[in-house]
Amino acid sequence: MNKSPIILGIETSCDETSVSIIQDNDSGIPKILSNIVSSQFDIHKEFGGVVPELAARSHVEKINLIAKKALEESGISLDKVSAVAATSGPGLIICLSVGLNFAKSLASSLNVPFIGVNHLEGHALSPKLHTNISYPYLLLLISGGHSQFLSVNGLGNYRRLGTTIDDALGEAFDKTAKLLGIEFPGGPKLEKFAEKGDPNKFKLPKPIINKGGCNLSFAGLKTAILRITKNINSEQEKYDLAASFQKTIEEILYIKSKIAFKEFLKNSISKKSFVIAGGVAANRGIRKKLIQLSNENNFEAIFPDINLCGDNAAMIGLVGLEKYKLKKFDNMDLEASPRLALDKNASFLKGSGVKI
Ligand code: KG4
Ligand code: ZN
Repeated sequence: MNKSPIILGIETSCDETSVSIIQDNDSGIPKILSNIVSSQFDIHKEFGGVVPELAARSHVEKINLIAKKALEESGISLDKVSAVAATSGPGLIICLSVGLNFAKSLASSLNVPFIGVNHLEGHALSPKLHTNISYPYLLLLISGGHSQFLSVNGLGNYRRLGTTIDDALGEAFDKTAKLLGIEFPGGPKLEKFAEKGDPNKFKLPKPIINKGGCNLSFAGLKTAILRITKNINSEQEKYDLAASFQKTIEEILYIKSKIAFKEFLKNSISKKSFVIAGGVAANRGIRKKLIQLSNENNFEAIFPDINLCGDNAAMIGLVGLEKYKLKKFDNMDLEASPRLALDKNASFLKGSGVKI
């Protein structure tokens, strides 16, 4: 096995085409030699959300070029690549297939191992691209499709402590943004709107805040916001509503994370690390609030770099590297899994009649 293996990582699960080259390092923190991320915002903007067929077509058109760019920028020639890793799920099946097929053909032409990666595991491990973190740690994963608390006990070893019973947090940000007339993708822009508003102007609900342990719920917020937007006219009121939404989310996460701390500590833990990852972890207000909570409870709050919160191939390469070192390779018949989970034993918690 190569002394400092080099992994070519590929991410195409949704609307980002990304290729990265990363190399193992004695420090335990791999070197990101390149990480090219090409977003498709312009393609989906006019539809107000991701259109799977358009996303897949764009991946097909761009993947070769992005891979070439990533190799060029890294200064690495293809014959130095030790393995090719690609996201195998969860995500849009026709998008996942583009990256997977590209990765399989590249791996077989180079005669190196092919490794399928769980996209959520990429987010879960992403701070390891710049920080040494030891297992186990508590994870709050907040992205466009997922919101969950997990105990990360090792590579591929997760125990879910809580999850959303309806919308994901990124989805709640995007839907609220849409109601406020902010163009797709609304999450990051909503945060900017909020900076200009009064966070105490509107009182919004905090669904299941006093029940359901550290499970989460955001759908009720969307309904409340829809009702309020019907009666507001001025730009300032929109800023105030955005600020009130941002503040409510911060408070929900503060309260629920505190419950998750207790759950996590039930199994004797030596070091109290709290990792917050996924696209929404880029939100500065949320970062600030969860750092405050962590300081109050002797936890260390750890975030990925802002540019590694959203979807990117460096985090896929990172999981690929960890798997490579354990010789956890995949066969060429590995298929895309649109519903891949982190804790395979956790029950499905969505829809009416769910008991929390
Ligand atoms: O992890 P990610 O890039 O893709 C998924 O795996 O889903 O997360 C994307 C989500 C989107 O909903 C986006 O609006 C949200 O993350 N997001 C934010 C911010 N930046 C991205 N939400 C709130 N504040 C932000 N600054
Ligand atoms: Zn993601």
